[in-house]
Amino acid sequence: MDKLPVGDKRLESILIGSDKIQQRVEELACQIRDDYGVMTPLCIIGALKGATIFITDLVRTLSRVGKQEMTLAFLRASAYGDVVRTGDSVGMRKVNIDMLGAKITAKHILVVDDILDQGFTLSGICAKLTELYPEANIKTCVLLKKELANPSEEIKALRGSINPDYVGFKVQDRWVVGYGLDAKEMYRELPYIALADEKAFD
Ligand code: IMP
Ligand code: MG
Repeated sequence: MDKLPVGDKRLESILIGSDKIQQRVEELACQIRDDYGVMTPLCIIGALKGATIFITDLVRTLSRVGKQEMTLAFLRASAYGDVVRTGDSVGMRKVNIDMLGAKITAKHILVVDDILDQGFTLSGICAKLTELYPEANIKTCVLLKKELANPSEEIKALRGSINPDYVGFKVQDRWVVGYGLDAKEMYRELPYIALADEKAFD
């Protein structure tokens, strides 16, 4: 049974429980296995640090459902730094991508991130990978996709240009934590996704 941290008023409620996440990870893994094929070499590259919990569950589930020929890599994409975004404020436009020495040889690359919010991170990662590996077939997978409440024209256009191939869950336009996602570096360890009170992290 999932429980919010005792006495911590900065989290409001559990949005997606751990059982529901595990069930969805399994569904995504089966879909990915079927789309690529068991024996097609596939590099799965995760964005640190948010995607770490999701990607480690995803690759083990992929293995369990029979996918073979996978390699695992990580990159670091920093967009927000230590900021908890509220409402329709815009995150940092410039996303810094550090490949952390990863050398990808597979023709098929699956980028895994925790959440698609305004879109700077995923578009930055895809642009960098396309520049480095122009011949590769690049697809994207996010655990969460935020439904933006009041996006600017710029953000609307950016989000319109990104359509992740695999999405775990759609979430409302609030700051969420857990299962790898943080607020000021906290709560990544929670096995569920919880709603944070943004005002508590000003
Ligand atoms: P984007 O570039 O605006 O799409 O933001 C995506 C990145 O910001 C993700 O990789 C996360 O690291 C972080 N992020 C965005 N929204 C949230 C959230 O609600 N909780 C935790 N991290 C978030
Ligand atoms: Mg991130």
